[in-house]
Amino acid sequence: MTRKITRVLVTGALGQIGSELTDELRERYGRDNVVASDIRSDESSPVVTGGPWVVLDVTDPETVEKTIVDNRIDSIFHMAAILSATGEKNPQLCWKVNMDGTLNILETARRNNLARVVIPSSIAAFGPETPRYNTPQETILRPKTIYGVTKVSGELLCDYYVRKYDLDVRGLRYPGIISSETLPGGGTTDYAVEIYYKAIEEGRYTCFVKKDTMLPMMYMPDCIKATMNLAEADFDDLVHYSDFNVGALSVTAGDIAESIRKHIPDFEVDYEPDYRQAIADTWPTGVDDSAAREEWGWQSDWDLESMTEDMLRKLRMKLLF
Ligand SMILES: NC(=O)c1ccc[n+]([C@@H]2O[C@H](COP(=O)([O-])OP(=O)(O)OC[C@H]3O[C@@H](n4cnc5c(N)ncnc54)[C@H](O)[C@@H]3O)[C@@H](O)[C@H]2O)c1
Repeated sequence: MTRKITRVLVTGALGQIGSELTDELRERYGRDNVVASDIRSDESSPVVTGGPWVVLDVTDPETVEKTIVDNRIDSIFHMAAILSATGEKNPQLCWKVNMDGTLNILETARRNNLARVVIPSSIAAFGPETPRYNTPQETILRPKTIYGVTKVSGELLCDYYVRKYDLDVRGLRYPGIISSETLPGGGTTDYAVEIYYKAIEEGRYTCFVKKDTMLPMMYMPDCIKATMNLAEADFDDLVHYSDFNVGALSVTAGDIAESIRKHIPDFEVDYEPDYRQAIADTWPTGVDDSAAREEWGWQSDWDLESMTEDMLRKLRMKLLF
């Protein structure tokens, strides 16, 4: 049986996805019913000023428990994490936040009989042995980054809580997310966001992966739609739980540059691959998301051209006016 989402906690709410997800959740469930949280604060952010807000470190189990109980939370959207590039610089912190944090969220949800937990995974769950083209839902998961290791472990842990404790836990393997609201927080696909900012601010960009690096990407409105469609799906319709492939775009860095050049013809890009190239090379170029389509009706709305037009329009408003 699928219980209703009524009182929500968002962790990592100041992050790239959390900030826009919090906005959507407040729209859907009411401003006062969505408690946003993060380990840091930012008084200038609408996440902090636009509704209930607490500072919360997800690695601290007592504070997680107290926040859930005091605020009568019944559903958690767990966005707090250390991402791939930052994770390689501090693997121990990545493990602590991604694994201890996820376990604290799952345990608190289990003890308090919560209605729903949404915990994202990532295309970083894949590795060099995974088929790179149209990567299947069920496939080899042997990532070589610590971030990927935590994402595979997180998927397995979430599915364990579904089967062992009947807890309603769901999650998607997000591709690289492109957005104009909040800058990304240290992932390997950050170039796909930076390139738009630099196109407007400087008219040139030095990209940290090679021109022909193709990765799965998704525009933020599709990311929010996928998250909410899965969160609100009937649990009885799900065969998978925490590891849905979701596809939208498969584009190279050069494709993105070319789509920007249709609007800013003299935009210049050079390519100086760094340590993140090696991470990108272990990830798929695109995923088979038929399970998400069949089980909860996934369909993307945005292609490269419509995304580029929208990104440039929004960033011009944000950066130039
Ligand atoms: N953005 C992407 O392209 C992408 C792709 C695949 C998966 N994901 C996943 O989506 C989720 C959200 O990612 P994002 O891009 O918004 O990340 P982000 O780095 O932008 O935000 C993460 C937030 O977590 C917070 N945080 C870090 N440690 C914390 C702690 N101990 N307690 C509480 N908060 C803490 C940070 O302050 C930050 O605001 C993560 O699980 C991430 O792995 C993101």
